[in-house]
Amino acid sequence: MVKPTLGSRASLAVAAVAALATTASAQTFRRSAACPSLGCIYPPDQSSFIAGQVFDIRVEIQAPANGSTPYNNGVPSSEFALYIGGKGADMQEVSSFYDREDPQVESYNFTYYEDLFQKANDSATLVNVLAKSYRHVTLFNPGEYELKLQYNGGSETLAHWTVLPLAEARQAKNVILFIGDGMAPSMVTAARLLGHKTVNGKYKSRLQLDESEGFGMQMTHSLDSYITDSANSATALMSGHKSTVNALNSFTDSTGKPYGAPKFETIFEMARRLYDAKIGIVSTAFLADATPAAVVAHTPQRGAYDYVIDQFLDGGAVAFNGTPQNFSWTQWDGPDVLFGGGGKDFVPKASNKNVSKIDRFLERGYQWSTTNSTLAELDNSKRALGLFSDSNLPTWLDRHVYTDNLASFGAWAPENKTFTAPTTDVPGLKDMTLKALDILHTRSKHDGTPFMMMSEAASIDKSMHVADYPRALGDLLELDDTVRATLDRLEELGIREETLVVVTADHAHGFDVFGSADTEYLAAQTTIEGKRDAIGTYLESGLSGYQVPQGVNPQNQSEFVGPQGPGFPVTWEPRYTAAFGLAATVDQYEDFKTHPSVRATSLEPLKNGTYRASHDDSPDGFFISGVLPTSNDQGVHSLVDVQVFSFGPGHELFRGMMDSTNIAQKIAQVMDLGRDKKGDLAVSQRKGKGKGKGEGEGKK
Ligand SMILES: *[C@@H]1O[C@H](CO)[C@@H](O)[C@H](O)[C@H]1NC(C)=O
Ligand SMILES: *[C@@H]1O[C@H](CO)[C@@H](O)[C@H](O)[C@H]1NC(C)=O
Ligand SMILES: *[C@@H]1O[C@H](CO)[C@@H](O)[C@H](O)[C@H]1NC(C)=O
Ligand SMILES: *[C@@H]1O[C@H](CO)[C@@H](O)[C@H](O)[C@H]1NC(C)=O
Ligand SMILES: *[C@@H]1O[C@H](CO)[C@@H](O)[C@H](O)[C@H]1NC(C)=O
Ligand SMILES: *[C@@H]1O[C@H](CO)[C@@H](O)[C@H](O)[C@H]1NC(C)=O
Ligand SMILES: *[C@@H]1O[C@H](CO)[C@@H](O)[C@H](O)[C@H]1NC(C)=O
Ligand SMILES: *[C@@H]1O[C@H](CO)[C@@H](O)[C@H](O)[C@H]1NC(C)=O
Ligand SMILES: *[C@@H]1O[C@H](CO)[C@@H](O)[C@H](O)[C@H]1NC(C)=O
Ligand SMILES: [Zn+2]
Repeated sequence: MVKPTLGSRASLAVAAVAALATTASAQTFRRSAACPSLGCIYPPDQSSFIAGQVFDIRVEIQAPANGSTPYNNGVPSSEFALYIGGKGADMQEVSSFYDREDPQVESYNFTYYEDLFQKANDSATLVNVLAKSYRHVTLFNPGEYELKLQYNGGSETLAHWTVLPLAEARQAKNVILFIGDGMAPSMVTAARLLGHKTVNGKYKSRLQLDESEGFGMQMTHSLDSYITDSANSATALMSGHKSTVNALNSFTDSTGKPYGAPKFETIFEMARRLYDAKIGIVSTAFLADATPAAVVAHTPQRGAYDYVIDQFLDGGAVAFNGTPQNFSWTQWDGPDVLFGGGGKDFVPKASNKNVSKIDRFLERGYQWSTTNSTLAELDNSKRALGLFSDSNLPTWLDRHVYTDNLASFGAWAPENKTFTAPTTDVPGLKDMTLKALDILHTRSKHDGTPFMMMSEAASIDKSMHVADYPRALGDLLELDDTVRATLDRLEELGIREETLVVVTADHAHGFDVFGSADTEYLAAQTTIEGKRDAIGTYLESGLSGYQVPQGVNPQNQSEFVGPQGPGFPVTWEPRYTAAFGLAATVDQYEDFKTHPSVRATSLEPLKNGTYRASHDDSPDGFFISGVLPTSNDQGVHSLVDVQVFSFGPGHELFRGMMDSTNIAQKIAQVMDLGRDKKGDLAVSQRKGKGKGKGEGEGKK
């Protein structure tokens, strides 16, 4: 965990590694992901595949040597076999089904804690494993499949898989997927309150998200935990498979290694492989971060940043740190657009053997940009890399209101080839997304192929982690503004009718607004009780202080427009702020003000590895006792379902209660992904259905 220090570049970078989930405070433990018995099958029971989706199969036979359920002195039986069959049809061994040699058996051990007592005693259970992986397999025919693993002389593990039906016709040629990281429904509501005015109980204007044509909700839980991180939740959205915390488009095997785990193809990889689709990745995070990485990276360890950057360029078969992967994977030679922060991971450094990843992109023919001005000048017909910051981009609030914070910002310094320069010439989500759209449109039009873009508002989440509600909501309003501008640009380009736009979140934060706070009265009080009296509930909550200029009563019905135009607050520093909070907090001081610097609710770790609240963070504030283990330096994600907004062709599919995995599957359906290589359900059979140029063509 990186602590933001007030006023430093690190503080602008909003705790770069902060979102990375820790396991240090886990309260339940399991031996292996999705494997309660001693025989594991990956992909596990209940997996659904897009027809033709490439994946790996892995089986593990585990034998605990000690702990509460030792088995056979820790010796797994070397006699084991995996069978596959359609429902009712004869089963056959997977290697004969795929007409290939049986893979080599791996043999190793791992340890795990069964509960907190074992952990406190530091006595882990030892497990010996035999395993094998069938790489790069595919199921083309829709329907039900059954997998049976026989092991340990008579034990069986079953997995039922579904290959989803093919679409009847293509509904949209292009897809844009917006992800508001950590964007809980309550945060959308709060952003509306800050950015739009009510008169006599009715909103005078609304969010673009409020105008969505399709609306539904999705459940975000992961494969083996009900609270998710951004890696496996983005994985579900982009590949249609549940996975484990910290995993990107792969299952977490028991090797503990960041490479070699069983993978599955993302819809972006599929669209590239099948249609030569142009792919855009845009994020306000550092680009190796979980959500942008989930477009194309495969690893159970999202923190393997150098490996993630290499996969942006070379795809999932690339060597890890010199260790060859020994398998083929979907052809991938880089996205058409990659815009965001995280220059630190592209410059030469010890961990990447001093290789400049920027040079590697340039050698591949990419143009690149490091400022908002040069972004605008990029050639729309060429692939482009944009690195606008050392780590995360500054938040919308820092770019528009607290611009002094940019003085210590890490922009590209050409003379030093480092990301250490100050600049105010930095793009926001809207600038990056619209430019990416122009490039994708130009390139896809030229080649007669579709395009897909993922655009992430990352600091909604990063700010929520440190209870910096105004920064989170500022970036949420920027996302809403970006969605509006994107729909307008699609209209201008004449492709609105052939482009599906989906806006969703990858998970929530337990956040809500419960009243207002009179910040002046609060600051003047000296006792906790006095300060808490500044909170107005029910009738006293009043109306949004953000929609009137400073000094004007929030009940004033005139409509005011702030410096950033409609859809944003008139002021960020009203006397009457929203009283907001999180369900899962660390100890902190709260004053309900917009903080000029990025918030730092907790101080440096104490010698014993715990954190304590920082009074400097909110000098006027009162102390709120947290509920998380004191080893946490920030808040965590929460369980509540998140919204799915959709616009354009195919939006009808994104209604009602969905699972996170359905998002990728429905996008595949709308784009009519799910085709094959020669033989099965051939591309040619379905050619000419749907509309749009390049239908069924451009297959590599
Ligand atoms: C576990 O495996 C490691 C190497 O893979 C080996 O050195 C070690 O002896 C094994 N431990 C046990 C207890 O078998
Ligand atoms: C160590 O393990 C034993 C047995 O499970 C348990 O009773 C004891 O409380 C543990 N010690 C600690 C410090 O947790
Ligand atoms: C299991 O065996 C390993 C290796 O001998 C040992 O380190 C570990 O403490 C043992 N765990 C338990 C729970 O006995
Ligand atoms: C790949 O194959 C080489 C040579 O057989 C071997 O040394 C290496 O361990 C393999 N790598 C993986 C990840 O399996
Ligand atoms: C990387 O650069 C550092 C500093 O110049 C040098 O000490 C190190 O040996 C280099 N490492 C490699 C793998 O070239
Ligand atoms: C570039 O490097 C020089 C020499 O180390 C240093 O003085 C200067 O501040 C650096 N400039 C930037 C923008 O990092
Ligand atoms: C980026 O540049 C464009 C013009 O190309 C301008 O409209 C926009 O306001 C700039 N964005 C920022 C954040 O300065
Ligand atoms: C609302 O505020 C404006 C600007 O301060 C002021 O001119 C106007 O008189 C106010 N309206 C009322 C009814 O107080
Ligand atoms: C860690 O240290 C702090 C300050 O010395 C103390 O208040 C706290 O109780 C300690 N926590 C633990 C878990 O030891
Ligand atoms: Zn997060």
